[in-house]
Amino acid sequence: MAGQLRFDGRVALVTGAGNGLGKAYALALAERGAAVVVNDLGGDIKGGGKSSKAADTVVSEIRSKGGKAVANYDSVEEGEKLVQTALENFGRIDIVINNAGILRDKSFPRISDDDWDIIQRVHLRGSFLVTRAAWPHLRKQNYGRIIMTSSTSGLYGNFGQANYAAAKMGLLGLSNTLSKEGEKNNIICNTIAPVAGSRLTQTVMPQELVDALKPEYVAPLVVYLCHESCPVSGKLFELGAGWFSQTRFERAKGALLREGNDFVKPEEVRDNWEKITDFTNSDKPTTGNTEFLATLLSSSKEEAPKQTEKRSLKENIQS
Ligand code: NAI
Repeated sequence: MAGQLRFDGRVALVTGAGNGLGKAYALALAERGAAVVVNDLGGDIKGGGKSSKAADTVVSEIRSKGGKAVANYDSVEEGEKLVQTALENFGRIDIVINNAGILRDKSFPRISDDDWDIIQRVHLRGSFLVTRAAWPHLRKQNYGRIIMTSSTSGLYGNFGQANYAAAKMGLLGLSNTLSKEGEKNNIICNTIAPVAGSRLTQTVMPQELVDALKPEYVAPLVVYLCHESCPVSGKLFELGAGWFSQTRFERAKGALLREGNDFVKPEEVRDNWEKITDFTNSDKPTTGNTEFLATLLSSSKEEAPKQTEKRSLKENIQS
């Protein structure tokens, strides 16, 4: 086995690091030499209240083991302040782990505006604001490691979690795009969908499972994804209980039903359903299908795309 993964000289910001998974990441990174900003609002699991206790306890634990850490008690909705804490105390920022989270579980028709909004604000908007605040610093130094925390509830859906699922799937889209925009500056961004016993899962899991599924079982993959040797970006991982697995999309080969300039009828879609949904020889796509569709059009002689100059979105957007 090659040498230990070290983080000496690196500065990590872990949101929601006062409990559960975030705490495990903060401790693991600090143990390997990173200076850590332990962010935690210290509220309850539904997003009410605030306290400095959770973050302070983790900072004390890190320091008592000889590590470097500082607390930040702001909500992730104050993204700039979290990044400022890293810059003021450690002079830089290298790693952002977007982990802070709350729950407002209710069956879909019972979700209030507030239940919807607070979940989007903490999970999706919070991760956006924290990461956007860090981004210019990561770009300038040509180095960054970002984690987005999704959930299988978002990837596959889960009864009673429509608000949470929407935010968690949104984080995957955010991560996939940041991995593309960050590529030229050596900023990598990956997404995890973890499972661990914590005060959040205490509400839905039996206590024995909460005790058995230790957050420390999740931390190793997150630590690796945050290391300078991490070889991947824009990837998604499911993990828990010491089990680690990459998850990806699968796209059926599909069927080209259009002939010439005729529009396809809904009945033809119905009649070709088997072909459309046949995953034999499927693709594992990592980009959209616009280029593929343009090739399809130009290879069918009847209707080639009119425009001759093809500009990618990347070229049209100022970076
Ligand atoms: P946890 O409740 O133990 O830890 C979350 C921490 O985030 C808490 O300490 C809380 O005070 C903090 N927090 C909440 N709102 C905040 C805000 N606005 N600003 C700053 N800090 C805030 O929960 P757990 O289980 O460790 O969850 C961590 C992340 O993992 C969450 O995003 C959660 O949705 C996600 N997750 C957890 C799973 C699990 O099985 N535990 C499953 C899938 C996703």
